[in-house]
Formats: sequence, structure tokens, C-alpha cells
Amino acid sequence: MLQIQDLVVTAENKEILKGVNLNIGNGEFHVIMGPNGSGKSTLALTIAGYPKYNIRGGKIIFNGSEITNLPPNERVKKGILIAFQHPEEVEGVRIIEFLQQVLHELKGIDLAEVYDLIVKKAEELWFKEEDLHRYVNVGFSGGERKRLELLQAVLIEPKLLILDEPDSGVDVDSLSVISRKIEELHQKGTSTLLITHYGRILQHLDPSSFQVHVMKNGKIVMSRSGEFVKEIEEKGFQKIFEEVGI
Ligand SMILES: Nc1ncnc2c1ncn2[C@@H]1O[C@H](COP(=O)(O)OP(=O)(O)OP(=O)(O)O)[C@@H](O)[C@H]1O
Ligand SMILES: [Mg+2]
Repeated sequence: MLQIQDLVVTAENKEILKGVNLNIGNGEFHVIMGPNGSGKSTLALTIAGYPKYNIRGGKIIFNGSEITNLPPNERVKKGILIAFQHPEEVEGVRIIEFLQQVLHELKGIDLAEVYDLIVKKAEELWFKEEDLHRYVNVGFSGGERKRLELLQAVLIEPKLLILDEPDSGVDVDSLSVISRKIEELHQKGTSTLLITHYGRILQHLDPSSFQVHVMKNGKIVMSRSGEFVKEIEEKGFQKIFEEVGI
């Protein structure tokens, strides 16, 4: 479904990704881990088409067609959705109107009909109807923003969902809800690329059912099965890098 070939990316003339290769098949679940600053968010944002990042080499292919230079909104239409590490405030745009518009455009569902669906799904993620009439992320806490990102994903049901640290700054109960929702989407067939620093978000997944990739200095340097997450948490990256001589 997603093929990333020798991807080289710069931002402000600094090379950040230095030749990334990654393949994600239909319905597969992949995890990316790695030290701070290794390029995880840059990779996620580049797949989503974020304009700050310049692709200097390589290709991104999605469902057989090249999307390397496609604008972000076209990628969303193709079924790629990103949940941001740092969701930004959007003054003047109400959550409910934004979600109604997105679902209407992507799925052709009638605006009134979509309203009830949004309220129902929002309640499952602990939002009240009145919360949906606030502006996108404005005044929402860090953890609430992460749940709002998940709400978008649950409603859109993308083909490929990229989650950039959906667990950072989230309390234990919210983490449980978020991780269950991620697993539900995966069960429905969504391919998932999850960036995290902690194994706890993977509590609802069988470790043999997913792969973990480790990034270092702008490259994927290791790819293993899910059981490896435990080893990373126990040993830390530096020790693992020393052991394998990288
Ligand atoms: N727009 C930018 N301009 C300059 N440097 C950038 C830009 N975006 C990212 N970088 C640099 O690229 C490197 C990789 O950043 P990135 O955000 O991808 O790391 P990360 O692996 O997601 O880290 P974290 O675990 O802390 O979220 C960092 O050194 C960062 O400072
Ligand atoms: Mg990051």
C-alpha cells in the first residue's frame, strides 16, 4: 500500500531524512521508535505532504501511484490521515463544522445526518456535544487534543493512519481509550504507522502482529517484530545501538 524508497528530506537547508526505506502492506501495523530528533515526525509529516519539508531524493508510492509531490488535501482524499504530535489551534473554525465539512466532502454524507454520527463518536472519546461547538484545539488541553485527533481518525476511517505520539501527555485512562480506538480501526482494515516512545499504547495488540522500526539520525536502522519494543524499553536506544554496532 505504501512504499517509501530512499527518501531524502530537508528543512531550511538541513538534511533531516537521509535515505528512508519503508513498506507498509494493506491492513498492516507498523511502529516507529527512536531517540528524540531522529526524524520520526519529519517522516510522518512528509508522508502527509507537509509543505515545510522538501523532498530532495526518493519516492513515495501509495496504492500504486506516486504521491511524492501531491498536496496534503489530495493525500487525504486518497485515504492518508495524520494525527499530529502537536495539534495546532485553529481560531474561528468550530470542531463540528470542520468535521461535518470533511465527512461531507470525503464520504458524501448529508450534513445533518453526519451531525448525529459525530456526536455519537465524540461521546465514545469522552467529548460532550457542547465541546464540539468550540474552535478546533483552542483552549483544549494536550491530552484532549490527542483525543480530538483520534475522533477525526475514527470518523474518517482512513486507509492509512499515521499517528505521531498519540500517547504523549495523555493520562492512563485516556491512553486506554485511545489505544482501544487505534486497535478498532486496525481491526476494520486501516493500515497504521504509529510513532511512540512507550510500549503501553500497544497494550491491545499481539506483539507478533506488528513490526517495529528504529530510526537513528534520519534513517531506519533496525526493523524487528513487535516483541522488540520490550527490549527497547528495558535497554534504551544507546545500549541497543552499541550491541549491534551502529
Ligand atoms: N523545520 C525545521 N527546520 C529545521 N530543523 C528541523 C525542522 N524540522 C525538524 N528539524 C530537525 O530535524 C530533526 C528531526 O526532527 P523530528 O521532529 O523529525 O524528530 P523526532 O524523531 O520526531 O523527535 P521527537 O521524538 O522529539 O518528537 C531535529 O534535529 C529537528 O530539530
Ligand atoms: Mg516527533
